[in-house]
Amino acid sequence: MLDVTKSEKSYADGKILKSVTEGVGVVTFNNPDKRNAMSLDMWEGLGLALTELRDDEEVRVVVLVGAGDKAFVSGADISQFEKTRHNAAASEEYSRRSEAQRALLGNYPKPTISCIRGFCLGGGMQVAMLTDIRIAAADSQFGIPAAKLGIAYGYDGLRNLVSLVGPSWARLIMYTGMRIDSAEALRIGLVDRVIPTDELWGETMALARTISSNAPLAIKAAKITIAQVLKEPADRDMAAVKQIGLDCMDSEDFREGRRAFMEKRKPQFKGK
Ligand code: COA
Repeated sequence: MLDVTKSEKSYADGKILKSVTEGVGVVTFNNPDKRNAMSLDMWEGLGLALTELRDDEEVRVVVLVGAGDKAFVSGADISQFEKTRHNAAASEEYSRRSEAQRALLGNYPKPTISCIRGFCLGGGMQVAMLTDIRIAAADSQFGIPAAKLGIAYGYDGLRNLVSLVGPSWARLIMYTGMRIDSAEALRIGLVDRVIPTDELWGETMALARTISSNAPLAIKAAKITIAQVLKEPADRDMAAVKQIGLDCMDSEDFREGRRAFMEKRKPQFKGK
């Protein structure tokens, strides 16, 4: 499925893979035997991979994908629960151990895309909802079976769910633990696009390349501003919105963008 080869690196005993191609960073959840269920080691590996891609100037957009054809991520690794999440105190510690990585992904400075094929459940939904854009294969399935396990899903995950699908669908999903297919996920706004399964990777990479060829500062401006829109008014950093707007208008890329338009050629953006 993956056509990426450059600068591959692995983390968490090979269960998280990282690679870069044509300005696109790819992180793969690689535990297909367990439907890419997320262990704490994988959360830590995800954090390391995301940090390196964040700091890699060549990378302009990051795609998250599951290995194999069965799952994006089937949720947290339930086999760890008896040891790491058996009561409230353990659960607090468990959440704390993935908190930094969740914050890193949620506040990532570059655009992020989830490329979803197969099951996207529980913690997998949490990961997907932390990314900017969700592209799904036609045969994917989504759900948050917290009520079937007896666990609470947490504020951040539910805030993201409510902001995507609204409170009523969020309740339906949470109260029933039901699974929905890609068509329904698209209809309710949980995913942004549904693609025939054998075209998913190519379409996702084409989208990522489109983003990576656009002006990075303009994308950053959109990302920062949309993030502020989603905050409570009192928490909004309007100075950051103003500053990124000024940075764009003073940038070499804006000059390049308008010249390229006038000269009827493709712009070459540098991110400054
Ligand atoms: N944690 C740990 N192991 C998991 C897992 C998870 N979240 N999801 C799947 N696995 C394991 C299964 O235990 C099984 O292991 P085994 O081969 O040792 O028996 C293997 O992955 C394959 O799963 P299986 O259930 O046989 O595959 P399936 O294709 O029939 O179903 C799922 C896949 C994802 C629908 C099903 O495994 C499932 O419901 N998983 C749990 C999902 C969940 O509750 N997630 C929320 C956690 S917060």
